[in-house]
Formats: sequence, structure tokens, C-alpha cells
Amino acid sequence: MLVLGIETSCDETAAALVTDGREIRANVVLSQLDEHAPYGGIVPEIAARSHIEHLDGVIGRAMSEAGAEFADLDGVAATAGPGLIGAVMVGLMTGKAVATVQDVPLAAVNHLEGHALSARLSDADLCFPYLLLLVSGGHCQFLTVDGVARYRRLGTTIDDAAGEAFDKAAKLLGLGYPGGPAIERAAEDGDGARFDLPRPLKGRKGCDFSFSGLKTALLHKVRAFEDGLDDATRADFAASFQQAVADVVVERGLNAIRQFMVAHPGGCSLVVAGGVAANSLLRQRLKTLAAENGLTLVAPPLALCTDNAAMIAWAGIERLGLGLRDGLDAAPRARWPLDGSAPPPPGAGRPGKLGPKA
Ligand code: KG4
Ligand code: ZN
Repeated sequence: MLVLGIETSCDETAAALVTDGREIRANVVLSQLDEHAPYGGIVPEIAARSHIEHLDGVIGRAMSEAGAEFADLDGVAATAGPGLIGAVMVGLMTGKAVATVQDVPLAAVNHLEGHALSARLSDADLCFPYLLLLVSGGHCQFLTVDGVARYRRLGTTIDDAAGEAFDKAAKLLGLGYPGGPAIERAAEDGDGARFDLPRPLKGRKGCDFSFSGLKTALLHKVRAFEDGLDDATRADFAASFQQAVADVVVERGLNAIRQFMVAHPGGCSLVVAGGVAANSLLRQRLKTLAAENGLTLVAPPLALCTDNAAMIAWAGIERLGLGLRDGLDAAPRARWPLDGSAPPPPGAGRPGKLGPKA
């Protein structure tokens, strides 16, 4: 089965061709970073217009890199949300058009399901169920993945996502956007023990996250340098911040593993996915955490961690393989949780009501 994947939920225009034999025949990602840079963040209208302008060309490039014709397609998978609604619409409409013209089935894919299943594209041995840490610019959650379309959320962030925290911290330190890679680079020369930053929710029950207090603490410490930061201090801040995020994820992760093992005593894998999974300190720390608890860490290669269309094509292959097809009435969605039945995180928007200390 050869499937065209299309991803336009945020600021990457991406197309990929993937087979059900896990061969990635093309994986083209066009970043819009330069178009948004003058505004200091992503402008939804610019994103949508840029997708319209570039998507056809990106799909054409993927086709020619794969040496494929539209007539060779057995299916089309397009991100249908969550994301910037105008941006999602461009990719989903294009996917519907290609599927209709070629008369092949359509999968309207949840972008988060793309991340959640991406490790099964790179690792043929990864079986359900597994514990998933989904860490991206918009999400920071632990979920059990019981199967395709079967997710149970164990914990989530009550404020910022991890990637968002990296991006805000980088902005504060004058390191630019996207913040994660910039912080990781700067941290290479830094001393992660120099600045004492908080580890929010440490010692609390459950595996929810909070990052806003960490960001605020960083802000106060940076402001204390009234004459600005020199490169060495900036590197120490980056390293201290990265260290704090990794500590938080590992501390929360231990609780998540315990919850997972109770529900799935035979489970053997911890999977990390999403853009922040590209962070090498985080990968290293999670690998140790998994090993200490009898699990194996499975992390997709970097190109499948940050937003891409190969993971969307793969999620489509998994869904279509189970007979899960979508019609032309599939709607683009700005919000679309993987576990629709999960309650709001405890204390969300209500500081001080975070439940008892464990
Ligand atoms: O999954 P993704 O590409 O887009 C979303 O769906 O959000 O994730 C983007 C996020 C950004 O916040 C970016 O700063 C972060 O992933 N990121 C990283 C690294 N590379 C990307 N964070 C930490 N370390 C990295 N190496
Ligand atoms: Zn993403």
C-alpha cells in the first residue's frame, strides 16, 4: 500500500510517501519560519496562505522524489486537526481532492495520533500497549496507547506545554525561535547547576505537568542581570533550564510508569514522541528512567519527531489497514484531544488546588 501523507496543521508544509512495508519513499518538509520570524511568533493567516501557495509544489516534489505517479496511490492521509484551523483546512481539502480524483480511500488523521504512532513507523517491533510521552509545542501528556485509535490519558500539563516552555525561555534569553533547538545548542557550553530553578509539582501524586512557574522563575533570575547577559551566562541559563525540564519529565515519568505498569503489567515500552523528543538530554534521561523500570525507550529518529507528513501517512496506513476510512464530510478541527473522555487536568486555572502531596 502506498499512501500520500499531507501535514499543514501549523507552520510546516509537508508531504510524504510511505508504504505499509515502512518504507519512507519521500518526506518533504517546508518550514515557514522565515515568513513568521518578523512577527516573533506564528501568524495563523500567514500560515494558511503560505500552505495554499506551497502545498502543491511540496506534494509534487515528494512525488518525484518517490518516483511515483498519483495513479500509484492506494490512499491519502491528511491532518484534520488539531491545529490552526485555516492551515488545517488547506491540507485536508487538498487530501480530499486527491483522494476523490484518484478514487482511493481517505484518512483524516489526528496530528497527535501521527506523533503517537510515529515510533511504529521507525520500529517494526513496537507492539501495543505502550506508554507514550507526547511532548511538542502544544502538548505535554502521558498516554497509554492500547491500539490504533485507543488512547487513555494519564496526565497532562495544567499550563504550558514543554515545547512552549522551551520557546518562551529561549525568547527570554534572546536565543530566537524555535526555542528548543536553540536552548539545546546554547546549553552545550553551559553549567546546568549554576542557576537553581524550581521543579514544579515535584513530589505530587499523578503525572500532570506544570511549566509556568519554571518560566517565571527564569524570568526573575534573568532580570536580576540588569546589564544584560553575556554568552557564558546565557549558556548557563539554557543548561539550567534544560536540566530543570528534564528533571520534571523524569520525576513525573516515574509516576506515569507506575500507573502504566498497574494497568498493563506486560507492557515493555516507553515511547517518546513530538518535537521536544528531539532533545538529546531528555532522550538520555528517559532511556535511563525506562531501563531502571524494566522498560525499553523507543524514540523515533529526529526527522520523525518534529512535524512531518511521514507520520501522518503512517497513521493513515494503520487506520486504513483496520478499515477506518473517512468521507468527504470529515471536518477540520482546531481542538481534538486523543482521549476525548479525559477530564480537565486537576487544578487547571485554579492555582493552589493541585491535590495532596504524595
Ligand atoms: O511536534 P512539533 O514539531 O510541533 C508541534 O506539533 O507542536 O514540536 C515543536 C516544538 C517546539 O516548541 C520546539 O521548540 C520543540 O518542539 N523542539 C525542541 C527541540 N526541537 C524542537 N525542544 C527541545 N529540544 C529540541 N532539540
Ligand atoms: Zn506536532
